[in-house]
Amino acid sequence: MSKLLERFAADHKRLKRLLFVLRAQLDRFDDDTDPDYERLLELLEYVSDYGDQWHHPAEDRAFALLDPARLNRSQSKALEKVTQQHRELPRLARDVREDLEAVMRGMVIPRSKLEEDASSYLSQQIEHLALEDDILFPALAEQLDDEQWAALDKAMATPGDPLFDARDGARFDRLYFDILEAEHGADS
Ligand SMILES: [Fe+2]
Repeated sequence: MSKLLERFAADHKRLKRLLFVLRAQLDRFDDDTDPDYERLLELLEYVSDYGDQWHHPAEDRAFALLDPARLNRSQSKALEKVTQQHRELPRLARDVREDLEAVMRGMVIPRSKLEEDASSYLSQQIEHLALEDDILFPALAEQLDDEQWAALDKAMATPGDPLFDARDGARFDRLYFDILEAEHGADS
């Protein structure tokens, strides 16, 4: 498997760990407790910084090499949907960030707005990852040859992941701890 495709799949595993934390924070609404607003903001900051700036553009570049004539119906539909989600997900994340920033500035916003915005972001992300993992990554593996992968690998120099393997100073340390804690809590 190409290094880049491996990186896409690894990014998704990491993103799923973050979505698990997001889900756990949203569940606090059901218990009538407040989520950790600061942690949620960090989570979205990471997803925007890394996900929207590198991960999605790199995927778009790879998807652009797929030959539409060789895609089956479900692959074509998935490609259309995923391309649209690459545009919509940053907007959905921005809505949630704006809600969180408003709450943290002491503004009164309906709790239901934050809950709805965060839930729709979460469900879009889950659907998005499944479409790529289950339909489009296999299509890439099937269609792209070694030469195309080598050119992509070269063009899309992979940056360090600022949360999981290249934490700069204390940035995201608490978020990383929360991920481990949420996972540990789920295991026990
Ligand atoms: Fe992706």
